[in-house]
Amino acid sequence: RVAVAGGNTPRELYRVLGTSEFCKQADWAKVHLFWGDERAVPPDHSDSNFGLVRRELLSRIPIPPGNVHRMEAERPQPEVAVEHYERLLRQYLHLDSRGLPRFHLIFLGIGLDGHTASLFPGSQTLHETSHWVAVTVVPTLGSRRMTLTLPVLNAAHQVFFLVTGAEKAEILRTVLSGTSTPQLPAQRVTVPHGLRRFLVDEAAAALVRGEGSSRSA
Ligand code: 6PG
Repeated sequence: RVAVAGGNTPRELYRVLGTSEFCKQADWAKVHLFWGDERAVPPDHSDSNFGLVRRELLSRIPIPPGNVHRMEAERPQPEVAVEHYERLLRQYLHLDSRGLPRFHLIFLGIGLDGHTASLFPGSQTLHETSHWVAVTVVPTLGSRRMTLTLPVLNAAHQVFFLVTGAEKAEILRTVLSGTSTPQLPAQRVTVPHGLRRFLVDEAAAALVRGEGSSRSA
């Protein structure tokens, strides 16, 4: 049970996963793909996170269509889409001792303002504890999104933050420093019962040095 990220950073990951070298290393019939967040656009829209994964990955791997669960964020009644997605999570994911759905792996990115998925600084959605999925608005754009909420992100077995490029060096250092007040959304993904990894390239890691930070990308 994997939740994939949107944005530009993971594009290369999806492309590489779809190559013959890597594609055959997964038993895609056993993988169920979900989305960490989605824009309120149809799947064929250039902004669609589903569309990104379909172009770069789904079109190249033998994953059964019934294993692909996109967020229908474009629905006119967002609350219906939220309820539908929460039903899918309940149907396909194991629940932990607190009744939360546990992903095996969640890919996330980090925005320049420290947002992750569609959890933006100052958003009320950051305080959502009873819903697993929420509708939110991008503060700078006013556009609508659907997103997994912090309880679900933090219930995961593993969370991989994918961060690349020199423009992300400052925000990565801030997120890893853990000293922001209030805490940035990406800092609130602490994965207390699982593993949190930052997969970064040299440029993004330029301001982060310390024991354990390997030189390799
Ligand atoms: C989205 C993502 C978002 C993204 C960050 C980083 O729907 O855009 O969920 O959280 O991961 O904004 O985006 P980039 O990878 O494009 O820098």
